[in-house]
Amino acid sequence: MTTILIVPPFSTLCNAAFALRREVFVWEQKVPEEEEHDADDLTATHFVAVMAGEVVGTLRLIDKPEHVKIGRVAVRMAFRGRGIARQLITTAMAHARASGRDRFYLTAQSDKLGFYERLGFSAFGPEFLDGGMPHRAMRDYDLPGNQLAHS
Ligand SMILES: CC(C)(COP(=O)(O)OP(=O)(O)OC[C@H]1O[C@@H](n2cnc3c(N)ncnc32)[C@H](O)[C@@H]1OP(=O)(O)O)[C@@H](O)C(=O)NCCC(=O)NCCS
Repeated sequence: MTTILIVPPFSTLCNAAFALRREVFVWEQKVPEEEEHDADDLTATHFVAVMAGEVVGTLRLIDKPEHVKIGRVAVRMAFRGRGIARQLITTAMAHARASGRDRFYLTAQSDKLGFYERLGFSAFGPEFLDGGMPHRAMRDYDLPGNQLAHS
């Protein structure tokens, strides 16, 4: 069974999530270490997925005026393909909706578009590089005739 929790920055569980992010993004995907943590980590809402006493997944939500940004979605390699990321994202979106936010945005690695499309997101705008990897912006809401900046 997987439990999803909100954890304060730099709590023990959040530190385990930061270690998991390093494992996935810096070691596995070769994102430069200095780009992995940023100032948003201090104010973001951090979610963790706990299974058998271990943090096996994480993401963060950043409140922006126009939407809530979902980021740093990571699941430990040995635990992938079991619906953990889907559970993290749907729980985090339900949490934000409960406080009146209903527009969600993210920037996806281009090979993960299908994963987010299954969760109701559509890509928009041109492909760009982030952490050395191609990305597209995605959102789950319509904004006719407008393009959002990548933020
Ligand atoms: C991407 C990642 C978070 C997915 O985690 P996961 O727990 O394995 O995903 P889930 O098991 O919840 O998958 C949910 C759905 O997406 C699909 N899916 C998973 N990875 C996918 C991918 N790379 N491309 C397309 N679809 C994918 C699954 O088949 C599943 O489909 P279903 O609901 O129809 O069965 C995980 O592979 C990971 O941590 N990768 C490294 C970090 C990363 O790339 N993060 C995302 C940055 S944009």
